[in-house]
Amino acid sequence: MRITGSIKETRDQVKEWKAAGLSVALVPTMGYLHEGHRSLIDRARKENDKVVVSIFVNPMQFGPNEDLDAYPRDLDRDAKICEDGGVDLIFHPEVEEMYGPDFCGYVDMHTLPEKLCGASRPVHFRGVQTVVTKLFHIIPAHKAYFGQKDAQQLAIIRRMVIDLDFDIEIIGCPIIREDDGLAKSSRNTYLSAEERAQAVILNQSLDAAMDAIEAGETDATKVKQIITDTLNTCPLAKIDYVEVTSFDTIQPIEKVEGAVLIAIAVYIGTTRLIDNRIIL
Ligand code: PAJ
Repeated sequence: MRITGSIKETRDQVKEWKAAGLSVALVPTMGYLHEGHRSLIDRARKENDKVVVSIFVNPMQFGPNEDLDAYPRDLDRDAKICEDGGVDLIFHPEVEEMYGPDFCGYVDMHTLPEKLCGASRPVHFRGVQTVVTKLFHIIPAHKAYFGQKDAQQLAIIRRMVIDLDFDIEIIGCPIIREDDGLAKSSRNTYLSAEERAQAVILNQSLDAAMDAIEAGETDATKVKQIITDTLNTCPLAKIDYVEVTSFDTIQPIEKVEGAVLIAIAVYIGTTRLIDNRIIL
């Protein structure tokens, strides 16, 4: 497995593979890899000849008061997980390699990034779209793998690829969870023991909503109320948002029908966690 921080080396290697007729996969990450990331790597490994993992804590997608400096990093551990997963190349650039001194090119979209996480993290998706565009240009893979854990991010990337004619197939992969149902996240490491115990409420509130929908509930307001009531039973939980939207447009809907995204963001103590259900 090769590890490089160089855009040129990475691009040359990917070009060489493609010229030899090999299929190439990209798994974009910010590192501190866990079984969620590993599930994307495993799927990419199964479906392609070569797998590239990018590890880059992208400053552009963090707001001024967010956790950029505290974001966990451990390249040695990540490299071992990638090696075990059969990854061929890790692209691990320095910030200076990605954003030169006169950098001013951004990729932005309307409507999709405005709701849900975009409302409380106004610069976040512009940063994601810009860095993912750069990664798609540096690593012109056939397929790129993203988790449904970040459902709005997945919807935005899918839209961006259609609207801007990227020649890459986007593969969405299911959420991987801890045994008690908490969605795996690099940010779970911030939780104290008490917070970790209470964090399970996110998944439980979504289970309660799905139970109601399976029993015939289609009123989005009632579904949101069930989630809110469940979350409010937890003393450490502070709701950022609870939304029922179209999965395609990320606009709120009144009736649960068609492709639906039920998405929540909740502070457990000072740590902001997200979770969701997608109904297709
Ligand atoms: P990061 O949070 O490291 O996540 C990398 C990928 O792993 C994303 O596609 C995310 O949805 C997926 N992932 C995270 N937790 C998961 C889980 N529990 N189950 C399944 N998949 C999971 O998302 C980012 O990085 C960044 O925004 C990035 C796209 C790399 C751009 O900087």
